[in-house]
Amino acid sequence: EPTAEQISAVMEDFITLEGPLLPMLHGLQAEFGYVPQAAVELIAEALNLSKAEVHGVISFYHDFRKAPAGRHVVKICRAEACQAVGGEALGEAVLAKLGLDWHGTTRNGAVTLEPVYCLGLCACAPAAMVDGKVIGRVTEDRMTRILQEAGA
Ligand code: FES
Repeated sequence: EPTAEQISAVMEDFITLEGPLLPMLHGLQAEFGYVPQAAVELIAEALNLSKAEVHGVISFYHDFRKAPAGRHVVKICRAEACQAVGGEALGEAVLAKLGLDWHGTTRNGAVTLEPVYCLGLCACAPAAMVDGKVIGRVTEDRMTRILQEAGA
């Protein structure tokens, strides 16, 4: 966990911007790999917002992490086109297999599983993204192999 001093040092880079909240959150995530819990109160104070408001923004944008990611990040598309052709079932199967909720990380730190809302690959649905690389027509078998290779 970064200290309040480390968090504040990052926040300072953004505090004078107009509309500093999102840039600040992105900056914290770029620095630490996630938005530390302690940042919520510091940001709320600095920007004169309530903690609930800061929480709300972090939760609304699916890109913000509340905990460090695993060594590999697997995103499964949960938008309409993918859901319509088995994306929902694929996601549920993977969650069940790894015993995780969305945004969770396997206990060995190998894989973080995240939802994503359209990867622009609707024609090849269901789509997923593995460490930044998009893949289409993902079957459960293929996802199992990917997860095995990732060490999940
Ligand atoms: Fe999944 Fe577009 S809906 S890639």
